[in-house]
Amino acid sequence: MKKTILSLLKKGGPVSGETLAGQLGVSRTAVWKSVKRLRDEGYGIESSPRRGYTLVSVPDRLLVEEIYDGLATCVLGREMLVFGELPSTQDYAKHLAQNGCPEGTTVIAERQTCGRGRLGRKWESPPGGLYFSIVLRPPLSLLEATRIPLVAGVVLARALEQYAAVQPRLKWPNDILIAGRKAAGILSEMSAEMELLHWVVLGIGINIDAKPSDFPKEIGSIATSLRPGESDAVDRVRLFQDILFQLEDSLARFQVEGFEPFLMLWTEMNDTLGRDVRIADGREMIEGRALEIDADGALVLECRDGSKRRVTTGEVFFNE
Ligand code: BTN
Repeated sequence: MKKTILSLLKKGGPVSGETLAGQLGVSRTAVWKSVKRLRDEGYGIESSPRRGYTLVSVPDRLLVEEIYDGLATCVLGREMLVFGELPSTQDYAKHLAQNGCPEGTTVIAERQTCGRGRLGRKWESPPGGLYFSIVLRPPLSLLEATRIPLVAGVVLARALEQYAAVQPRLKWPNDILIAGRKAAGILSEMSAEMELLHWVVLGIGINIDAKPSDFPKEIGSIATSLRPGESDAVDRVRLFQDILFQLEDSLARFQVEGFEPFLMLWTEMNDTLGRDVRIADGREMIEGRALEIDADGALVLECRDGSKRRVTTGEVFFNE
């Protein structure tokens, strides 16, 4: 009943208790109790004696009903698990993937206590951001699937541009920078046997309203968020819905058209190519000028001696 009342109120205008009661075939007291429950969940519902109830605000919380209301995907997020707190959505989604959950299963949490980033790093996940992981089972080879995080980077950067009026840039392989600082990141983990891909878990973390002081000292100068210190400015639910929708669409296009169109988009939004960089790949530090991203998504560097080197993983540091 609560759900129906909410959707009737969302159509707009004041709706009287009598009308709601009539439409639902319940008493006005039952309506009043459901409205109270909605208010307890954080919905702003005003009531005036003669005109009835008006929905004036929805809570800035990741509520299942709100996420599904307007989610236009066919696969991504159709199986959705929403948590207040988790150690890591990535670990939870990987567990589900290993146990055969359907493609598109999405795990999202208001905050994470052990959020993980690439290369074994921690991902700070205070409340107010977006932290989610999606299970994909695309009919791709392992090599083809390594381009998925770059495709996701393009989707994410464009969604942030649209929803937060920021100008995101992509740093290889898939960091999203705003004014040179990292605001969002993508962690992609896969399971495969030989060339046969079982699953990909795509984890996305977006800092939304965290202030510089909310980040630990060691990353305070390199991290940022979409709207530092301004809550309410970004509608997290709409942003999340749009990312899922655009991602579904782009992954379908990627499977049909290949990586080329996304490589062009990635290149247009990149902050890496043409710059002198150092790359820590876990074994050594490689230096050179970032020339291009190749068709496999690897970064091609021109070293000081003029030789070219392909780098497939690592952390990029800009020299200037
Ligand atoms: C990176 O840039 O290093 C990747 C960051 C990925 C963070 C996300 S938040 C949701 C998901 N759960 C995790 O523990 N990590 C990813």
